[in-house]
Amino acid sequence: MHRRLRLKIENPVLLIIGCQSVAAIAGYFLIPVLNMANPWPGLVLQGALASLLGVATPMSRWWMPFQVLLPAGVVLALSLEAPYWLWPTLFVVSLLVFWNSAGGRVPLYLSNNTTWAALKDLMADKPNVRFIDLGCGLGGTTQYLARHLPDGEFTGVETAPLPFVVARLRNLLSGLGNVRISYASLWDQDLSEFDLVYAFLSPAPMLDLYAKAQAEMKPGSRFISNSFDVPGHPADQIIKLDDARHTHLHVWNF
Ligand SMILES: C[S@@+](CC[C@H](N)C(=O)[O-])C[C@H]1O[C@@H](n2cnc3c(N)ncnc32)[C@H](O)[C@@H]1O
Repeated sequence: MHRRLRLKIENPVLLIIGCQSVAAIAGYFLIPVLNMANPWPGLVLQGALASLLGVATPMSRWWMPFQVLLPAGVVLALSLEAPYWLWPTLFVVSLLVFWNSAGGRVPLYLSNNTTWAALKDLMADKPNVRFIDLGCGLGGTTQYLARHLPDGEFTGVETAPLPFVVARLRNLLSGLGNVRISYASLWDQDLSEFDLVYAFLSPAPMLDLYAKAQAEMKPGSRFISNSFDVPGHPADQIIKLDDARHTHLHVWNF
């Protein structure tokens, strides 16, 4: 019996290595033909080719500028003759911060003050509200809300080691008694405990997360996703914020 082997690669790190390798081989033959004396346009061309190859993969579009600049960035970095420990150190720090970028496809970027204020307004009519930030990053959202809504209880969970340590330290130093920051995966949280569940993640986990929220959240609670919708499940309300990022808060009422 003939069995077909289907290989499905979605990890952006592996896809980037693949695209850059193909582009480097193409560049090896193409750049001498183009007779470029200056190496930089060739390197950017090579990056642009890798970026175009990336379009044919499941990789998110926001990797495109990174792919364009990667070959030139590597050559520039090597030419700096930096101390030998710098690159491994930067690699480890990046790993500890962007822990969830490759596997879970959720990088670190932060909610802004306008978003914090909008979340606070959404909870103003809910005394003793119980709130969770799924992937709380540096803990800014929970800190702000706990300070402005002192009768509420605010939980943040995070699995990237460095952001978790920062969020925990901020919390300890703030002296706020109504915030709890845990080193825990958002997938292990029982969402039935919360009145408002907030997530600012990426398109990748949204379908699964919505299914989890729908299964666990209790009637009268709200699920809010910053920026990312759920295919096939339109939000009950979309709040458009007046900030530079034109943030959209997608709100589902359960
Ligand atoms: C885009 S950031 C948002 C940070 C914060 N919620 C905010 O709005 O400022 C997403 C965060 O989710 C974290 N994250 C991703 N997957 C996670 C998981 N399975 N469990 C806990 N945290 C996770 C990432 O490490 C990252 O810090």
